[in-house]
Amino acid sequence: MRGFALLLALVYSATAQHQALIDYLERRLLAIEDRISLWQEQTTRYASELRELKQQMVSQLESLDKEKETLRTTLDGVGTRVDRVERELDYLETQNGAQPCVDVDDKLIEQQVTLVKEKQKAKYFKLTDCSDMISSIKAMKILKRVGGPKGMWTKDTGGASGKVYIFNGTAEETINEFATVQDFTRSAGFSLSTDLKIPSSWKGTGHVVYNNHVYYVNQEEEIKVVKFDTKNKSITDSVVFPVQDHVPVYGLNPETVMDLAVDEEGLWAIYATRENERHISMAKMDSNSLDIEQMWDTNCPRENAETAFIICGTLYVVYNTKQPGRSRVQCVFDVNDLVTNEEAPLVYFPKRYGFHASLKYNPQEQLLYAWDDGYQILYKLSMKKKLEI
Ligand SMILES: *[C@@H]1O[C@H](CO)[C@@H](O)[C@H](O)[C@H]1NC(C)=O
Ligand SMILES: *[C@@H]1O[C@H](CO)[C@@H](O)[C@H](O)[C@H]1NC(C)=O
Repeated sequence: MRGFALLLALVYSATAQHQALIDYLERRLLAIEDRISLWQEQTTRYASELRELKQQMVSQLESLDKEKETLRTTLDGVGTRVDRVERELDYLETQNGAQPCVDVDDKLIEQQVTLVKEKQKAKYFKLTDCSDMISSIKAMKILKRVGGPKGMWTKDTGGASGKVYIFNGTAEETINEFATVQDFTRSAGFSLSTDLKIPSSWKGTGHVVYNNHVYYVNQEEEIKVVKFDTKNKSITDSVVFPVQDHVPVYGLNPETVMDLAVDEEGLWAIYATRENERHISMAKMDSNSLDIEQMWDTNCPRENAETAFIICGTLYVVYNTKQPGRSRVQCVFDVNDLVTNEEAPLVYFPKRYGFHASLKYNPQEQLLYAWDDGYQILYKLSMKKKLEI
């Protein structure tokens, strides 16, 4: 009986110990579980925080990119403006008492300007899809050196014949005609050319060749525009240009009293008169009848003007200095009012030998045919649309 009681007590104490162990283990397990769930919670939080951070970084990088872009465009803008200012300074330096493009000082000029405004009110109505303007000079090619310091050369600007015409000098009665540009470049002097003898002499460098006709300027008492058929070698027509008191149109090329030009819209005359003698005037002519269709007085000064050309109804006047420096387009006038001086790019010509005696635009090829101290040079133009400045 005593032995049994002892056994019972032993069993009881073992059970109690066992229970305590189980309780202890259970508590530990619970604690571990708690910590595991805490870790899990923390991990998810870290993961979501990491995701957020990543998103923030991405959006900040994007906005940084955008800022970089705006900074770059601003810098570009500043760069071109500095460029322009530099070139303008360069111009002013070489200009020596330069005349700005618009100069309205004294009362006399004021009156003339009002008159001019009146004249220009009649809007140029011609419908045209031609809207190119010059953006820069892309390339230059020196073809040859024939002839004297002054002269003019051009291809037939009508495009059909491909013939090349040389007006050597500023007052002659012979024009040299080459069948192609290749003939011209491989000819020794004028040996491969045909002489076109004209009945009256041409004066200055202001002539054009358009659709197998030479339009040359002849000057006796009055200024005449003569139309000469290059096929049957005879004068087709001749008119007296209907303005009085001509003065040479370009300050630096006194032999050229009047200049003719061809663009995408046809024949133009560029001239100057005593009435408005500080500025250049221009007129649209009918190439068939030689009638004047409309006239404009521009705000482009004659002083230090070297020559000019017309593209899509916009006059580009090229200026230089008495000691020849780099020629540049420093004044433009658009008959359709689409381009102003402020918007027009300041186009510089590459350095050359002397200065341009003539610059003839060919609308078929978008090339300028230049005569510079006896050299025949081609300038390739790059264009843009008038309204995209
Ligand atoms: C071109 O004209 C110049 C004078 O301006 C003259 O000296 C020269 O001989 C002429 N050239 C030719 C090939 O006739
Ligand atoms: C030359 O040709 C034109 C037409 O192309 C004609 O009007 C003119 O009479 C001709 N002249 C001569 C002299 O044959």
